[in-house]
Amino acid sequence: MTVLGIETSCDETAAAVVEDGRQVRSSVVWSQVQAHAPYRGVVPEIASRNHLKALIPVVETALHDAGVAPDCVDGLAVTLGPGLIGSLLVGVQFAKAVSFAWNRPLVGVNHLEAHVMAAFLDQDPPDFPFVALAVSGGHTSLYRVDAIGAFRLLGRTRDDAAGEAFDKAAALLGLPYPGGVHVDRVSEGRNPEAVHFPRAMLRETDTLDVSFSGLKTALRRHIESLQAPLDAATIGDLAASFQEAVVDVLVTRTLHAATQEQVRHVVVAGGVAANRRLRARMTGAITAAGLRLHLVPMAYCTDNAAMVAALGYHYLFGDRAGSRECARDLDMDPFERHVLDGW
Ligand code: KG4
Ligand code: ZN
Repeated sequence: MTVLGIETSCDETAAAVVEDGRQVRSSVVWSQVQAHAPYRGVVPEIASRNHLKALIPVVETALHDAGVAPDCVDGLAVTLGPGLIGSLLVGVQFAKAVSFAWNRPLVGVNHLEAHVMAAFLDQDPPDFPFVALAVSGGHTSLYRVDAIGAFRLLGRTRDDAAGEAFDKAAALLGLPYPGGVHVDRVSEGRNPEAVHFPRAMLRETDTLDVSFSGLKTALRRHIESLQAPLDAATIGDLAASFQEAVVDVLVTRTLHAATQEQVRHVVVAGGVAANRRLRARMTGAITAAGLRLHLVPMAYCTDNAAMVAALGYHYLFGDRAGSRECARDLDMDPFERHVLDGW
């Protein structure tokens, strides 16, 4: 079954064609980063307008790259939330129009669930049940996943998401926007122990929640205390030390969650899952504990529509077909709060 996925929840306009929830035939991501860079953050109004301009060419390119004619598409999946409401509305209204015009079923999916399901786009997908760390610019949450659509929240950030913390740290260090990937790059070969930044809440062992806002403040205070412009070596050491603190917290909590839930498989998904230090440290820790780690393939960590199509397949044609727990066809509405329930 061939599913066309559409993703417009934030500042990436994306479309993808995926077969049977596993085989990516095409994945097109048009990033709006340049439009938002002058503001060092996503401007919702600019994002929605850019989605309006980009969506039709992006979908056409995805169909063309896949070599799939519209009448070969069996169903559509679109991100219903969470995300920026104006941006979501563009994707959802477009998907409804196409579903109506092509007479094909449409399903609305949760963006975080889609991030986690990107693990199934790998050659070696996880077995249920597993623990998933979804770590992105807007969210940092741990889930127990018993089946497609059967998620239970175990812990989450009480303030900043890890990606948000990376982006704020990058701004403090004078690195370009969006900062996560630049913190990753300048940390390479630098000293992660140059400064010991706080690992907030790690001593509290009765919770799987995390907190990153104090870490960002500690970095700001440290930079202020230096009272001098930062040279490249100092920026690298501070970035590496900051990154190490975030990674320590994420690895410790994920391992704790997997032990508590007695699962054998662990998934790490979302934009921050592209972080090389997190990938290396998580691999070491999870493997040493005798568990199986499934890192989402690099191409599907940050926002994309392949993950949306992959998840949509299960609600349209797979194990969850006919389930009434998700929004379908022309009824769906990104304003409905149930999109966020439990996430
Ligand atoms: O999943 P995503 O594309 O969008 C959201 O759903 O939020 O995640 C974007 C986040 C940004 O905060 C970005 O800085 C971060 O992921 N990110 C990284 C890396 N690549 C992207 N953070 C750390 N290291 C990276 N290599
Ligand atoms: Zn995302």
